[in-house]
Amino acid sequence: MSATTTAHAAAAASDAGKVAAEAARRRTFAIISHPDAGKTTLTEKLLLYAGAVGEAGAVKGRRGRRAATSDWMELERRRGISVSSTVLRFEHDGVVFNLLDTPGHRDFSEDTLRVLAAVDSAVILLDAARGVEPQTERLFQVARARGIPLMAFVNKYDRPGMEPLAMIDHLESTLGLSLAPLTWPVGIPGDFRGVIDRRDGTFHRFTRSTGGAQVAGEQILAARDAAGEDAALWAVAEEELELVDAVGGGFDAAGFASGERVPLFFGSAAWNFGVGLLLGALAELAPPARARPTADGEPRGVEEPFAAQVFKVQANMDPRHRDRVAFLRVCSGRFERGMRATNARTGRGLALSHAHEVFGQEREVLDDAYPGDVVGVVIGGDVRVGDTLYAGRPVGFPPIPSITPEHFATISNRDSSRHKQFRRGLTQLDQEGVVHVLHREHAQDPVPVLGGVGPMQFEVAVERLRTEFGADVRTEVLPWQAARVTDAGGAATVLADTVRSDVLVRSDGMQLAVFPNRFVLERFADRHPGVRLDRIMRDPVARA
Ligand code: G4P
Repeated sequence: MSATTTAHAAAAASDAGKVAAEAARRRTFAIISHPDAGKTTLTEKLLLYAGAVGEAGAVKGRRGRRAATSDWMELERRRGISVSSTVLRFEHDGVVFNLLDTPGHRDFSEDTLRVLAAVDSAVILLDAARGVEPQTERLFQVARARGIPLMAFVNKYDRPGMEPLAMIDHLESTLGLSLAPLTWPVGIPGDFRGVIDRRDGTFHRFTRSTGGAQVAGEQILAARDAAGEDAALWAVAEEELELVDAVGGGFDAAGFASGERVPLFFGSAAWNFGVGLLLGALAELAPPARARPTADGEPRGVEEPFAAQVFKVQANMDPRHRDRVAFLRVCSGRFERGMRATNARTGRGLALSHAHEVFGQEREVLDDAYPGDVVGVVIGGDVRVGDTLYAGRPVGFPPIPSITPEHFATISNRDSSRHKQFRRGLTQLDQEGVVHVLHREHAQDPVPVLGGVGPMQFEVAVERLRTEFGADVRTEVLPWQAARVTDAGGAATVLADTVRSDVLVRSDGMQLAVFPNRFVLERFADRHPGVRLDRIMRDPVARA
């Protein structure tokens, strides 16, 4: 081997070593919760504890500023909801955290599904009084289906709510969770004294003085000192813990890794309580970026050449730029600004320039990134949700599934002089995954049909067609509430079965059988057991 070849081999090995080391210190996660459980508050406090912001409130401030500069986001501001997901990156004690935000509103569950395809773990956030709410359950099912490790944080313990054993019982019975409490509360919600950290036996005292915008020192006591102060409450907590242990409530690393066993924490984000313990557990227990399964089943190791999956495409995030940003989750190798990559679906090369990370809603130029990181790249060509971009050995990650729509509406253009813009806009929204654009193939008038998980998706589509494409449109709600993916034989059976059902077709030929409601769908399925009726839709966009 020549001296140059040896030097190259040594450089490649040291680069792979650096990538592996960077991947090992990444924790890429999402928080899933029902609106109002405290996700914004917890996010702010995590940033505060990690030292990423000096004062809580900074995240909201950024969001406020951005809403003022974006026009289609006007809808978001008016409704007080978060339509788009954002990514927060912060570093603490040598660990790099990537927190991917998920929209809380049910109508945007598809967005959450895509985000969950890009994370390595998730925190389920619950309100101590309300427990499992509809959106918690829905998002949990999605996370569970992906088999990602989960942690649960019971928030608002400063207020009255369910006692800890009742909460465990509730979580086990509603979500079928197997819980491993890593902290245990002393006192009850509303009369809360603090938590026992089960890993080292210390007691973290809850005081209302620690709340607010700044991190305050938490009071940590040895268990035997704390036990003397509130003997009666301690006796209750200890007895509860014995009961939990008797039914096998201990931590189990393998169970956690497969998403079967869920570490449980109690706290109050508003009062900064329990947040430091959660952050510590994320650093210690949550998985780093690791080898990812590919479509052909062979995992792509983190130290291999660059490969990433697009999990979100968003146009016109900034009206001053009018551009399209693809959010990539780096899966292997080092991402460098300006590098060239190949899109596995189209086989075309593209330059990944103008990369930035997004902190809240603000862009910062990013020069390099490692497995686990999320980068936004400004793109011109055909890049869609689910696409794999790679350098070196070709690779394709499995498609990101989506949920079959439950709401449908026709959409028509009112101004014929803007027909081209209307068409272009619909294609754009379809590619971004804002809504599914479908057609009634056999109908006389093939007016486009929008499909989505909720009507708010249609509102976003209409608003964006108006503001970004100058298209004045009209929508009309259609009477279907259930849909399943089918094939040609299934489509013929549906059309022959009842006039109230129909078949819609997507641009890639996928056929969707639609029914007026769940009951009609179930009756149809009973009558025709041989017909293909799938609940999960594959993104057309991810197929090579
Ligand atoms: P979200 O993003 O999940 O929708 O929830 P967010 O953080 O906005 O919190 C929802 C409400 O719950 C907020 O009150 C927030 O202050 C409150 N909250 C969050 N964590 C805790 C907690 O640990 N204890 C208590 N008691 N309240 C908590 P709000 O009145 O809607 O808004 P604000 O005026 O307090 O900001």
